[in-house]
This record gives sequence, C-alpha cells and structure tokens, in this order.
Amino acid sequence: MKVDVILGLQWGDEGKGKIVDVFTPHYDIIARFQGGPNAGHTIEFDGKKFVLHTIPSGIFHRSTLNLIGNGVIIDPFIFMREIDKLAESGIHAEENLLISKRAHLILPSHRLLDAVSESSKGQSRIGSTLKGIGPTYTDKFARNGLRVGNLNGNDFMERYRVLKEIHLRTIGSYNTDLAGFTLDGLAFDEYEKKWFEAIGRMKDFRIVEGEQFLNKSLDEGKSVMAEGAQGTLLDVDFGSYPFVTSSNTIAAGASTGLGISPHRIGKIYGIFKAYCTRVGSGPFPTELMDETGALLRCNGNEFGSTTGRPRRCGWLDLPALKYAIMLNGVDTLIMMKADVLNTFEKIKVCRDYKSGSKILDEFPFDLSDAKLDPVYLEMKGWHQSLDKVASFDTLPQHLSDYINFIEKETGIPVEIVSIGPDRIQTLRK
Ligand code: GDP
Ligand code: IMO
Ligand code: MG
Repeated sequence: MKVDVILGLQWGDEGKGKIVDVFTPHYDIIARFQGGPNAGHTIEFDGKKFVLHTIPSGIFHRSTLNLIGNGVIIDPFIFMREIDKLAESGIHAEENLLISKRAHLILPSHRLLDAVSESSKGQSRIGSTLKGIGPTYTDKFARNGLRVGNLNGNDFMERYRVLKEIHLRTIGSYNTDLAGFTLDGLAFDEYEKKWFEAIGRMKDFRIVEGEQFLNKSLDEGKSVMAEGAQGTLLDVDFGSYPFVTSSNTIAAGASTGLGISPHRIGKIYGIFKAYCTRVGSGPFPTELMDETGALLRCNGNEFGSTTGRPRRCGWLDLPALKYAIMLNGVDTLIMMKADVLNTFEKIKVCRDYKSGSKILDEFPFDLSDAKLDPVYLEMKGWHQSLDKVASFDTLPQHLSDYINFIEKETGIPVEIVSIGPDRIQTLRK
C-alpha cells in the first residue's frame, strides 16, 4: 500500500482539517507529518466544532489510528489541553493516538525565544503564531533538541536544564523587556510548571517508532493518509521566504516527516480555497485591501483558528496555485469555501503576473518585488446560495464554469468542492 497525502496549496487554512476528517473513514491510519501548534485545523459535524493543533484530524473516527509523526513538533502543554478539550466532548484521543519517539519537543523557553526574535525584527516581523516553531526547528537542525523518546531518559531533566540555560542566555542578548509577557496567558514559571505536568501525562500515551509502525502497517496492506499543516506558500524552501514557517510543508515533507520512502507516496490531494487568504506578514500579490477583501473576510469568517487574527483576503492566484501543484505533484484538486463567493456578481482570478509590461512565465523568486502586478480575468459569479445543491452535477452553471476554468488552467481535475464548514457540505465528482 501507499501513503496518500493531503496538503494545502496556499498560505494555510485551506480547510485541510475538514477534508482529512471527511476522508478518514477510507483510511486505517492518519499521520501528521510536520508543523506544530501553529496549525489550527477545524472540523465541524453534528452541530459541534473542534479545532486541532497537534492531533491529526482523523481522531473523530474510532476505528482509525492517528499518528503524530517525527516531523511534527509538540508542545506538551498545548497537546494536553487539546486532549482534555476532546475528552470534555467524550472523545478519548489516547485510545487511537500514537506519537513518534522522534518528534521534537517545544520547550517553554523556545516560545520566549520566538517572542524576542519576532519583537527584534520590528516592522519586518514574520507574524509568527509565537508557538516556538522557529526556535524548536532551529534546535532540531542544530542537533540540540529534546525528543519525545527522551522523556523517560534519566538525563531528561539535565538536558532540559542545559537547553533552557542556552535559550535564556540568547534571550538576554536581545535586550528585550519581557516584563508582563505571558505564554497563553500564563507567566513563564506557571507555564513551565504546567508543561512538566503535561510531560508527566504524556508518558502514558502510546509512544512508538513511528517509521517502523507505518512501514509495517503499509506492508500489512493498511491504508495511510498523511496530513499536512500550513501550506505550500509557507514552505521554508519554496514559500515566500523569510515570511514562511520553519518546515517543509510540501509533499516531500511527508517522506522525511514520517520515515517513508518517496516510492511509498501514493495519491496527492491539493487543497485550495476558491479565493486566497494569508495570516501574518509577507507578500500577497492578490490581496484586496478594500471592501471586497472585507466582504471575503466576513463571508468566510476569516479569522485565525489558532490566534484569532483577521486573515488577509484576496482573489484566487493561479500562478501561485500552479507553482504549488508543480512542487507537490498534485493529482487531484479540492476546492474549498465556494459558498463564500455566493454573494458576488463578479469574481476575479489572477491568471498571470506581470513585471513592467512583461508577463512572467515562471513563479518569481521574490514575490514582494514592487514591479510585480497581478493580471486579472473577470468571470461571472453564480450569485446564489449553494445550500440546496446536493451534487456536483447540479452546481450553478457559473460555478461549474469557474471550476472548469481552473481545471483547464492547471491541467488537474477538481474532484471535490466544499460548500460549507460541516462534514456533510462536501460535493464529490
Ligand atoms: P486548515 O488549517 O487548513 O484545517 O483550515 P482552518 O480550519 O484553519 O480554516 C478553515 C476554516 O474554514 C474553518 O473555520 C472551517 O470550518 C471553514 N471551512 C472549511 N470548509 C469550508 C467551506 O467550504 N465553506 C465555509 N464557509 N467554511 C469552510
Ligand atoms: P494551518 O495548518 C496559516 C503562518 C503564521 C506566520 C508564519 C510563521 O492551520 O494551515 P510560525 O508560527 O510557523 O512561526 O509562523 O506562518 N502560519 C500559518 N498560517 N495557517 C497555518 O497553519 C499557519 N501556521 C503558521 O501566521 O505568518
Ligand atoms: Mg488553520
């Protein structure tokens, strides 16, 4: 068997959580392969809404196992808060959740480092979620990190102390005033105390060699879906650097983030919104700073699932989408939030980028180049509710035209269209 991959093609928040949940009944295992609690994956069903940060979005189906892969970084405090929140709704995640020994831990001092690093950047700050993502991946690659598999080691406390000391020295060198700074509303010492309590509880979870487990499961004929976090345009190599996250969000990340050979990657599903959003700083060629952008934000309830920040909104960007499709080798497209465009009489799509008078034939190195201009094509909106649409065949004509246009431009079929946040508001071709 092969591992299918589902990932975001834009700047994150495409609706990965919803679609992974919809696909879960067809898979034995759902495995998150990168990112950490910077992610916020929303799942809605039966009038309930859940936002997951670390736990894979397959957790609501009891017969599917969920793995937090080695490429993910975990903040035990946030992880345990998620576990407790699910338990309040009668979902006992520990029953179908496994954690890779090789996943790295986010220390409270990683979060402090993130805060001082961001504040030192002033106007050019990345707009990080401040969950300690950059500093934790930095320690991983600098070979200083602590991993889930170290939790039971006799030297864990000493290693924690040494690493925290290094962090505090670095933080001191920034000369930033952290007085009054809190971590999710808690003073550092209080957060650290709860972090250790969470560590204590984490030891009772099923901590496994994730790569062995997955490869054996595939050999036994089990089906696996890899769940991405963030989106392709936030990839550390190919995104709008430096306004990116610190991991490989593209399909190749599933291989390193789970310990499976590229030979074992199967179908690649790419998710995109019918328009574009971005949260945090960085270039966004099709951003709308006017009332149209505000209308997209309002219709789409575009506020961050993790931070609550308003998301920046704009028209669909085809050059960026095609670039993402190329990097990931997308087989199938999934279009989300079509309903958000219901009220629009006209819809614009960016078909090309122009630099001066020249149409670019390649995605540019620097998206923030002042000379870069999106070239728009205007299309008729469907201008009606999709509430009563029950199948792909009965989509309004202008929505079908929009989908056909995207398929023609990208060369990839759109096989699923999402018309609302609920599990059931999902149309398949
Ligand atoms: P993720 O990070 O990719 O999982 O996406 P988020 O959960 O951060 O953001 C997607 C938001 O859109 C969530 O609030 C979802 O409930 C919501 N959503 C998902 N699909 C649709 C859809 O088709 N229509 C509407 N209106 N909302 C959707
Ligand atoms: P999901 O999985 C949208 C953005 C942040 C910031 C940049 C770096 O829900 O799609 P970081 O915290 O990683 O240092 O932030 O990346 N970002 C996301 N934007 N969705 C996400 O995840 C994101 N995770 C990080 O806003 O601009
Ligand atoms: Mg999100």
